[in-house]
Amino acid sequence: MNGKTPIILDVDPGHDDATAIMLACGSEKLDLLAVTTVAGNVPLEKTTRNTLKILSLIGRPDIPVSAGASAPLERPLHTAENVHGESGLDGPYIPEATFAADERSATELLADTIESSPEPVVLVPVGPLTNIALFLRERPDLKEDISRIVLMGGSVGLGNTTPAAEFNIYVDPEAAREVFASNLPITMCGLDVTHKAGAGPEERKRLRSLGEVGGIVAEFVEFFALTYEKIYGFDAPPLHDPVAVASIIEPGILQTRPMHVAVECGSDLTRGETVCDLHGVMKKKPNAEVGVGLDRERFFELLYDSLERL
Ligand code: BDR
Ligand code: CA
Repeated sequence: MNGKTPIILDVDPGHDDATAIMLACGSEKLDLLAVTTVAGNVPLEKTTRNTLKILSLIGRPDIPVSAGASAPLERPLHTAENVHGESGLDGPYIPEATFAADERSATELLADTIESSPEPVVLVPVGPLTNIALFLRERPDLKEDISRIVLMGGSVGLGNTTPAAEFNIYVDPEAAREVFASNLPITMCGLDVTHKAGAGPEERKRLRSLGEVGGIVAEFVEFFALTYEKIYGFDAPPLHDPVAVASIIEPGILQTRPMHVAVECGSDLTRGETVCDLHGVMKKKPNAEVGVGLDRERFFELLYDSLERL
């Protein structure tokens, strides 16, 4: 035990996933025990390659990385090259990785890491929830060793992939439904809060001033800004996934409300909608703490501090 919160990231990099990995590694409050990869923004081979490249870049080849699911539980994969480019990390040049993925599957690495941690671990999925659903199916006995799940996904309000659904939940709604039904404590960082973490020209300038790693994040954001402008008309693209990590480093930055969240899996029109009972009208027991507010200034300060440390 070192006083740090032990976490495992489950990612599909993705510019914001890459930034979330960097944020976790730069924080003095977190112990990133392992990273698992999932198909999402781009296919699995690319999300794994991108993860290895990011950890190599920041000098952390000691963190084990395992590849997980290459497709959602029941559906064909839907990807987001329109947002993240063909590689999933288009923009800055990043050298090839200096190490390879672990031979264990993602669910094996999750199990081994959780079993060997002296303290319960926080799972932080910031891509489609396929790996987490599969892990909970395979190893329900380890649930008590998971302190909570802090995920990026969903929305109380509107979506970004369809008018109803956010990308991560849209891609694998069946997995999301299983995770929300797991009875584990869940914190949901959805678009309602991540859209408050938009990195505009001021933030990019500050990122550029932080040194090599900050400069790369600034270039990620520049690329993300172009695609976000084209698709959504935003000039300050949201740093979605780092919000989940930042909320563990400093819980006070995220304001949440307990509510029941159900996931739509049937309808074509609203597939992947997180139906959040904001007013408790269904009288169901809340199954998540849902992010409703973000201290944007503190969020960016935390990010700058962590990146500067790398
Ligand atoms: C989520 O979708 C992905 O494109 C991002 O990496 C983030 O996890 C936002 O909807
Ligand atoms: Ca992601």
